Amino acid sequence: MSSIKKIGVFTSGGDAPGMNACIRAVVRTGIFHGMEVVGIHQGYQGMIEKKFINMDARSVRNIIQLGGTVLKTARCAEFRTPEGRAKAYNNLKEEGIDALVAIGGDGTFTGAELLSREFDIPVIGVPGTIDNDLYGSDFTLGYDTATNTVLEAIDKIRDTAASHDRLFFVEVMGRDSGCIALHSGVAGGAEAILLPEKETAIDDLIMKLEEGALSNKSSSIVIIAEGDKNGGAYNVAKRVKEKFNFYDIKVTILGHLQRGGTPSSFDRVLACRLGYAAVKALVAGENRKMVGLRGNEIQLTNIEEAINNHSYKLEDDLVEMAAILSI
Ligand code: F6P
Repeated sequence: MSSIKKIGVFTSGGDAPGMNACIRAVVRTGIFHGMEVVGIHQGYQGMIEKKFINMDARSVRNIIQLGGTVLKTARCAEFRTPEGRAKAYNNLKEEGIDALVAIGGDGTFTGAELLSREFDIPVIGVPGTIDNDLYGSDFTLGYDTATNTVLEAIDKIRDTAASHDRLFFVEVMGRDSGCIALHSGVAGGAEAILLPEKETAIDDLIMKLEEGALSNKSSSIVIIAEGDKNGGAYNVAKRVKEKFNFYDIKVTILGHLQRGGTPSSFDRVLACRLGYAAVKALVAGENRKMVGLRGNEIQLTNIEEAINNHSYKLEDDLVEMAAILSI
């Protein structure tokens, strides 16, 4: 029998489709195990401001299909200070919360690890970020949905690009991670993909576009991850335009629409599995672990290890293939 009586669940950092399905799984699995479950609004900010709400099985009805997070989220500067964390812990203690499930990315996990070590409160992390850049899980919540959202946009842009014989530069999210860019670029048949993990010389890009134009390509799409070292889609478009006038050039920044929308079936199933596994891990006495999916199996990784190795491991074979399939 677990000694944990009351767990707190929260989402933090950037929202990601599938977070609600995960909250639902945590609440219902907790209740199944005889625990009380408290939802913490706005992540760490809510811990500091005592934004606690008691959850029951019905309080998470009809949310499995919703994007965003019903618990809301925030990026909280005060929690980064020892005083902020002490305030948060005292509020958790006062509320009788004796363990936490943290849903978010590396920033969320860094906070969770510190809180747990400083105040000896058990924490399990669930990887929730569209960036798919956490070590210990092949996929993070929201990545699949976001990539499909981007793909839908690329397909639509292709219609108009082909109709007008234009060159489009499409910027997608990923400050440090090129996962969305690479996968949506491959799936959308992009002519070139610029990634934070790999430097692309503008001259090489121009050469590639020139080769395409000379072999009868009448339109092209270049996907640029926001963290690409050339400085974003507008910058790249400007530099390409200076030396290359074959195409009429347009820029589209997809921005935050990539974070919203109803989660895909993949993200919903992943969210259910990870939320369920997170509570089971607490019941089993685990602490400072992240639940993840590896090779279609649930696995636990030390949160510290997940943070320290946090990055998207670029699939070199996909990069090579994308270049060949787009000739
Ligand atoms: O980490 C998820 C993410 O969407 C990144 O891809 C992006 O760079 C960042 O969040 C944007 O954050 P914000 O919504 O705070 O501007």
